[in-house]
Amino acid sequence: MKELILSRRSIRKYTNYKIPRDELVEIIELAQRAPSSRNLQPWRLFVIESDEAKEKLRKSMTLNLLQLETSSHLILVTVDPDKYQWSEKIFTKAYQEGVMPKEVMEKQIQMSKDTKYDPKDPNYINTLFLDAGLFALNFMYAAKIYGYDTCPIAGFNKSTVNDNLGIPKNLIPTLLISIGKADEEGYSSIRLSSDETTKWL
Ligand SMILES: Cc1cc2nc3c(=O)[nH]c(=O)nc-3n(C[C@H](O)[C@H](O)[C@H](O)COP(=O)(O)O)c2cc1C
Repeated sequence: MKELILSRRSIRKYTNYKIPRDELVEIIELAQRAPSSRNLQPWRLFVIESDEAKEKLRKSMTLNLLQLETSSHLILVTVDPDKYQWSEKIFTKAYQEGVMPKEVMEKQIQMSKDTKYDPKDPNYINTLFLDAGLFALNFMYAAKIYGYDTCPIAGFNKSTVNDNLGIPKNLIPTLLISIGKADEEGYSSIRLSSDETTKWL
């Protein structure tokens, strides 16, 4: 695990190797083990696989074209502000798979129904973004386990990407992640020391 963390770095140029779809599905499933608030898993993913899809995405990109052009795939991580609508499905599945007692399932579903939320409230949106970030990092490590490299990309036009890709307007785009077989070493990067970032109270 330590080696995995130390070996990840952003890779922006990839060989022309196309990751098989079933392998990418495994990576996504592994990444989806990420924790999320109330386990509501609000990430909704769009995999840019075909050349046609890449051309549609290009309309929302002026930077990061090397990743766009050379990656095997790019994953657009969006979040669903109506995440509570999924609670019945999620908790029923947990019960059916034997990981949640019936009473807990019923309580969780009821709690979700009773939760009043304002999809415009910044605190609410923050939690959605936190969940997306945890998914994204898990995805980048899962990719490494399978021998692939990634680059997280915030540099794209978030106000046009839904229209250009033809995806539902209510989903909020957070991050793109390019993935493929590395065709460069990438750069070493430094980190602040914990002395600089951490206060002990
Ligand atoms: C939220 C986020 C957005 C980023 N956006 C971009 C981007 O638009 N283009 C890019 O080349 N790298 C992007 N990066 C990658 C960072 O530049 C990189 O993670 C950082 O320099 C540390 O390098 P490392 O990932 O190799 O450890 C982004 C990283 C994060 C976490």
